[in-house]
Amino acid sequence: MPNNQETLLRVEHLCQYFPMEGGELKAVDDVSFEIQKGEVFGLVGESGCGKTTTGRSIIKLYDITSGSVYFKGIRIAAGTRSYVDAINHAKKEYKQRIAAAGSEGEKKKLENELDQIIAENKKEIKAAEYDQKHCDKEYSDELVKKANEKYLPLIEKASGEEKTRLTKEYKDELHKAKRTKLVTQIQMIFQDPIASLDPRRTVRDIIAEGLVIQGERNKKVIDDKVYEMLELVGLVREHATRYPHEFSGGQRQRIGVARSIIMNPDLIIADEPVSALDVSVQAQVINLLNDLRDRFGLTLLFIAHDLSVVKYFSDRIGVMYFGKMVEMAPSDELFRNPLHPYTRSLISAIPLPDPTYEKQRKRIVYNPLADHDYSVDKPTFREVKPGHFVSCNQAEFERYQAEMK
Ligand SMILES: Nc1ncnc2c1ncn2[C@@H]1O[C@H](COP(=O)(O)OP(=O)(O)O)[C@@H](O)[C@H]1O
Ligand SMILES: [Mg+2]
Repeated sequence: MPNNQETLLRVEHLCQYFPMEGGELKAVDDVSFEIQKGEVFGLVGESGCGKTTTGRSIIKLYDITSGSVYFKGIRIAAGTRSYVDAINHAKKEYKQRIAAAGSEGEKKKLENELDQIIAENKKEIKAAEYDQKHCDKEYSDELVKKANEKYLPLIEKASGEEKTRLTKEYKDELHKAKRTKLVTQIQMIFQDPIASLDPRRTVRDIIAEGLVIQGERNKKVIDDKVYEMLELVGLVREHATRYPHEFSGGQRQRIGVARSIIMNPDLIIADEPVSALDVSVQAQVINLLNDLRDRFGLTLLFIAHDLSVVKYFSDRIGVMYFGKMVEMAPSDELFRNPLHPYTRSLISAIPLPDPTYEKQRKRIVYNPLADHDYSVDKPTFREVKPGHFVSCNQAEFERYQAEMK
């Protein structure tokens, strides 16, 4: 992990609820984590626990229900439900208290308090709606300003051919700046390399898509960039004119990687990028991501359904269960001192190439009803030791702390 820590992504109390018959499905429920620049953060949990939804919420494919997502310090996604709930909750509570008030003065005071709570939450709702909408504009305004600062003085001083060249460069730069969205600096690599590549388009067009959307119009620039990306991911430039069905699963995933890194992203969300591949090919794609990470200092949110894939690759790991984050720690710490029974069950599922170990290996089965007593004291996400967080109630917290000593 890098030691000059700079938080690239901060997810705060993220909730993504989907409407369903008779209520809501809490696909992601109050999940918080941070990713530092240059770090690989592994997000692990069984199928259906909300990993993909977390990724899709971060790249703004949904209007999130509650919570905030900050990227490079700018809030790019914000939900309003928690504020609406706070208003409704306060109205209910104050209604009773106002009814029970002893004097006219006390009643007035309570009414004022309620008004203030409502006003504060309404302000938060407004701010959330504003940020959700305007973050891209603010970002592209900043890029326009930078282009102005860089080119205008140069153009003013230049003359003749030099001036023409600079003016053209400046115009191209402005064109791109106006179209650049902050979220395009977050790219997602998908689980299924077959379904995620448009079969009717050439590899060149697939890989170049992001550049074109961002306003790049120079064919040679695009071609050169595409060739560079192909070579970077272990393919060759001749592949550019072919179609996705002509490639193997591993090669298709390389095309997916090329498509995402051409945007020079600060953050890549790799959503089970190797789950659909043969075991022998999985290692190749992981190695490719590892290389790219070293070369470009990429930051990765790496999603997987089991721990074996993320074990050697991640700096820190978060474990999800049914929409909740249940444990989060640096990788080696998580494997040395797993605390949550669900994490322990995941670790017990990893086979090792060691016959003696394999003979003794016992699968631990997680059974939430038997493993926790949350009838009275509910769990919260707590830091048991610096950097190691677990979802637990007070009794469990004390037990975990004792175990750590
Ligand atoms: N667009 C959607 N509408 C309704 N339910 C969804 C949607 N996307 C995902 N879900 C549900 O949310 C839960 C979490 O899904 P997902 O994030 O895909 O899990 P994972 O990636 O961990 O397998 C699942 O129960 C899934 O069926
Ligand atoms: Mg998924």
